[in-house]
Amino acid sequence: MTTLGILGAGKVGTVLARLAVAAGYRVLIAGSGPRNRIELIVDVLAPGAIPLTAAEVAEQADVVILALPLGKALPLDEGAGIPRDALAGKVVLDAMNYWWEVDGHRDDLGDPTVSTSRLVQNLLPDSRVVKAFNHLGYHDLDESPQPSGSVGRSAIAIAGDDESAVAEAAAIVDALGFDPVVVGGLDEGVHLGPGAELFGAKKDADGIRDAIDRATATAV
Ligand SMILES: NC(=O)c1ccc[n+]([C@@H]2O[C@H](COP(=O)([O-])OP(=O)(O)OC[C@H]3O[C@@H](n4cnc5c(N)ncnc54)[C@H](OP(=O)(O)O)[C@@H]3O)[C@@H](O)[C@H]2O)c1
Repeated sequence: MTTLGILGAGKVGTVLARLAVAAGYRVLIAGSGPRNRIELIVDVLAPGAIPLTAAEVAEQADVVILALPLGKALPLDEGAGIPRDALAGKVVLDAMNYWWEVDGHRDDLGDPTVSTSRLVQNLLPDSRVVKAFNHLGYHDLDESPQPSGSVGRSAIAIAGDDESAVAEAAAIVDALGFDPVVVGGLDEGVHLGPGAELFGAKKDADGIRDAIDRATATAV
């Protein structure tokens, strides 16, 4: 059984934990502090998930989803916020976005031509980072999952450089209830973030492909 780790026990982290438990994964989840701070929230919102510390999640999980504020993962002092060493060699799914209302105005994160997942990959050179689960609001993540093959199934765009990591991400997206649509390498993540047509938009797989075609045509 794959063990899925989630760093961040907030709106997105708990929804993804609930979906992952339902999909049959062993799920570990952490906030920024000790496990007892999130025990109740996990019990209520994602029963079956196991609350731990971030370091324990990073060490014990096979695949780790980053679902914490980007500004906490990428502080100016070089990412002291996430357990980098424990993530080495692992597939890391980056669900984070730069959101200035939360992260503050950050010159290092706010360049719209640079995918923030590229910055995450730079921070984690020994991990295989894939952007996934970032463009759908947590309500839609919660309410839209459907079994594979369902008509009009909502889709989630994923972007990554490593073929096997992207395949693993796609399998997880599918298991959690969405059609995975691979939109390209990690740098194509710019088309999934705040300001992009896809951001916050619930679409099926064709809808995502059309939006990416429009985005890349305009970018040329
Ligand atoms: N909200 C959405 O609809 C949505 C949709 C897609 C993607 N996203 C992205 O997902 C990320 C999380 O958003 P959210 O809305 O779920 O935020 P949120 O509700 O504020 O939750 C953030 C969680 O991250 C935890 N955290 C903070 N620093 C941490 C650290 N160093 N290690 C581990 N956990 C840490 C917080 O724990 P403490 O309480 O202990 O600080 C909290 O559990 C953001 O990057 C956001 O852009 C959000």
